[in-house]
Formats: sequence, structure tokens, C-alpha cells
Amino acid sequence: MELQETKTGEYTLYIPSMDETYHSRNGAISESRHVFLQEGLDRTIGNIRVLEVGFGTGLNAILAAQYATQHQRKIHFHTFEPFQVPFDLISQIGYGQILEDQQLFEQLHAAEWETPVSISEYFIIHKTTQKLEYVSLTNEHYDCIFFDAFAPKKQPELWETGIFSKLYAATRPNGVLTTYSAAGQLKRNLKAAGYSTEHPPGANGKREMTVAMR
Ligand SMILES: C[S@@+](CC[C@H](N)C(=O)[O-])C[C@H]1O[C@@H](n2cnc3c(N)ncnc32)[C@H](O)[C@@H]1O
Repeated sequence: MELQETKTGEYTLYIPSMDETYHSRNGAISESRHVFLQEGLDRTIGNIRVLEVGFGTGLNAILAAQYATQHQRKIHFHTFEPFQVPFDLISQIGYGQILEDQQLFEQLHAAEWETPVSISEYFIIHKTTQKLEYVSLTNEHYDCIFFDAFAPKKQPELWETGIFSKLYAATRPNGVLTTYSAAGQLKRNLKAAGYSTEHPPGANGKREMTVAMR
């Protein structure tokens, strides 16, 4: 795993053996804001529960924590990550400085695993090392799912109908699942799981992404 600069100047992580990055090479922060805040959190109201697939660098988590404070909405953020990013890369990635809240970024990474931790008046994070495919989820529990797995071609087992059926059962009525991908098989698998889908324009000029609604 190594740092890689995106077109907008901030870093993402790159895994050479998979030839895969953690975020869009055209801009990590702009992608996270677009896909998960604008097309995810903005479609929800009130206090909400989020499920994230892949805590990774914690970029989505810090953006969601800042969003919660800015909008004065309480967010319970349940995030799955079986492969933790080494601390030396987290300390170099710079998201805390760019987003002008280094303390928040450090708090999110320092938070104990496997238990809910209160970060602020508006944000609780619950990090778990469990793999999504093996976990059992509470029915009709989450208002917004950040589906931020590696690309379907790189990690196809996480994009199968069985996974989306499990997530559909865990989504509250009117809840949404949002993801950067708009692959044809993804669209079919989401529909087979019961979701209806929309495909707004993606981040950084990408033609489309996916929002799935229960
Ligand atoms: C595209 S990256 C996520 C980026 C992350 N959301 C961020 O803001 O940096 C995909 C993440 O999914 C994690 N992952 C891989 N296999 C997983 C699994 N079986 N269950 C849950 N997460 C998994 C990876 O370790 C990686 O951190």
C-alpha cells in the first residue's frame, strides 16, 4: 500500500498488487463529498444511522462527522474494516490538515474498535473489523449505506445479489445505499435484491453513479 497523489493534489492510497486506489484518482475529497454526502446524507432527514463498507483512510468518516456538526444532525456511523491501514500512512495522508480538523481525524482513528465511541455531540462512530459478508445485520436499521468497497472487477464477491439482499433487509424504508459505481451487473443485482435505483452524474465528471432506494 502506498500514497498516491490525485489530480486535485491530495493523496489517496494505492495497492499495487490489485492495481486499485481507495478513491478516484481525479480527486478523493471531491468524490467522497459527492457520492456519500450530496447523493447520500442529503437524501436523508433528521438523526440517522449510517453503515459504511470500508473505513479505510477514514475520509468518509471525517466528512460525515463534519456534516453532522454543520447540519446539527446526529449520526451513528457503523463502519466495517477488516484490513486496517497502517498508522504511518494515516499520519501522512493529510486529510485532517486539509479539512482543518486534525484533532477530529485523530479521534476517529484512535477510537476503540468493536464498540460505539462518542466523538462529538453529533457523531458516534462504531468501527468493526468484521467482514461484511460474514456479519449479520439488524433489520430495517440504517438510513444510509455508504457502499465504498473496492471496484466490482477487483472484489466481485462484495457486489453480489446476496450481499445486497442482506443490505436491503438492513435498510430502513425510504433509506438509501449510495456508491460510486454504475456497472451494469451492479444495477441488476441491486434490483434483484429489491432496491429501486437512480443514476445521477458521478464525481469529478464521471458519467453516472448509483443511488439505490428501499
Ligand atoms: C475503496 S476502499 C474504502 C475507502 C474508505 N471508505 C475511505 O474513506 O478511505 C475499500 C475498503 O473496503 C475494505 N474491505 C475490503 N474487504 C472488505 C470486506 N470483506 N468487508 C468490509 N470492508 C472490506 C478495504 O480494506 C478498504 O478499506
